[in-house]
Amino acid sequence: MISTYRQLCPVVFGVGAVNLLAEKVKEHGGTKALCIYDSGVKAAGISDRIVRALSDAGIAVITFDEVLPDAPDSIVDRAGKLGQDEKVDIVIGVGGGSTLDTAKAASVLVENPLPVRQYYIGKGVRFKTTKPLILIPTTSGTGSEVSLMAVIHDEETHIKDTVLRAADLAIVDPELTITVPKAVTAVTGFDALSHAVEAYTTNCTNPKADILTLEVMRLVAGNLEKACEDGRDLEARTNLSLASNLAGMAFNDAFLHFGHAIAHELGSVFHIPHGAVCALTIPEVIRFSSDVAPERTYKMAGALGAAVPVGATSVEAGELAAAHVRRLMKKLGIKSLSEQGISPEDAMNCAEGAIAHNPFVSCALKPVDAAVLRVLIRQVYENYR
Ligand SMILES: NC(=O)c1ccc[n+]([C@@H]2O[C@H](COP(=O)([O-])OP(=O)(O)OC[C@H]3O[C@@H](n4cnc5c(N)ncnc54)[C@H](O)[C@@H]3O)[C@@H](O)[C@H]2O)c1
Ligand SMILES: [Fe+2]
Repeated sequence: MISTYRQLCPVVFGVGAVNLLAEKVKEHGGTKALCIYDSGVKAAGISDRIVRALSDAGIAVITFDEVLPDAPDSIVDRAGKLGQDEKVDIVIGVGGGSTLDTAKAASVLVENPLPVRQYYIGKGVRFKTTKPLILIPTTSGTGSEVSLMAVIHDEETHIKDTVLRAADLAIVDPELTITVPKAVTAVTGFDALSHAVEAYTTNCTNPKADILTLEVMRLVAGNLEKACEDGRDLEARTNLSLASNLAGMAFNDAFLHFGHAIAHELGSVFHIPHGAVCALTIPEVIRFSSDVAPERTYKMAGALGAAVPVGATSVEAGELAAAHVRRLMKKLGIKSLSEQGISPEDAMNCAEGAIAHNPFVSCALKPVDAAVLRVLIRQVYENYR
């Protein structure tokens, strides 16, 4: 089978990597930076440190600190307008996925007309991207720093839409994640895990993504609990930063499927943080293809650390792996849909929208239409209470 895989941008990875930022900005010809972040990253002292380092190196910095969860389009427009008005020549995003996606889309607006809405995938409007974009994740979950898409919440349609813009450089410094609160650590870790199990079970996998995704499963299974127990465990944090980053590279080519279709729709409708709803779908994603992808199911179970007796069928292995993930979810405080006060009917009624708004659902190993997705959402609901 012939497959295509890419790496969209170089990555500088490791504890202390953020100290190279000013040097990297200069290498990219940056003299005036738009630095984008949110209040959580500011409160953690990360943005101040970065702005100071850039200023000390003689780089002018314009700050935008109004990022909101899930990158609403109006915030992207405001950030982009600021960059245009200030004639910045480089954009830097420092934060979780909401910030990185805001920065990706705002970097388009810095040199193209507003609003961002016109650049959603499928609209066919071309844009230029000559001004460099550097992304610095401070959570370990989305992998947005190495993926092609910016996921934008459109406030008119309430749909998660997409702008395609890859970074020119990613700087992944695990030390920046030390201040991430326990609950955010848990849900972002499950986001990375969901990228791995989905990208390992699509109809467009490739050898590179297969290697990366299985390693991501091992890394998350082996480190998420440790990082939640002790946020200062730098080894666990480093492994999770790596997992998040590798998963981003993997799903960029191998894509995602129904887990993220459900996550995007339920996340938009019920305002659930992305990773929290991704987590809920993982066990069902593992179970879904256990009959048609036996080898993959055994390998996932092994990578996740689930005990599977010799001679178990792949469907049994899928059940055991799913139960293993559910136990970790419970331990780390992932709330079920019922615990969030959502009714099964309201959840299942998201099936049509999830199919309509997320065409990548067709990448699953078996056909997923609205009727199938209703059943899957019910399973997400019933199998984890
Ligand atoms: N583009 C992609 O490839 C991609 C992939 C997956 C998810 N996403 C998107 O990413 C978004 C979710 O991103 P997220 O899960 O990283 O959450 P987030 O960016 O919304 O951040 C969650 C919270 O953590 C805080 N925070 C971040 N870093 C911190 C730090 N170091 N210390 C203390 N607090 C910190 C933030 O202030 C915020 O309150 C969603 O909108 C989702 O759709 C994008
Ligand atoms: Fe995700």
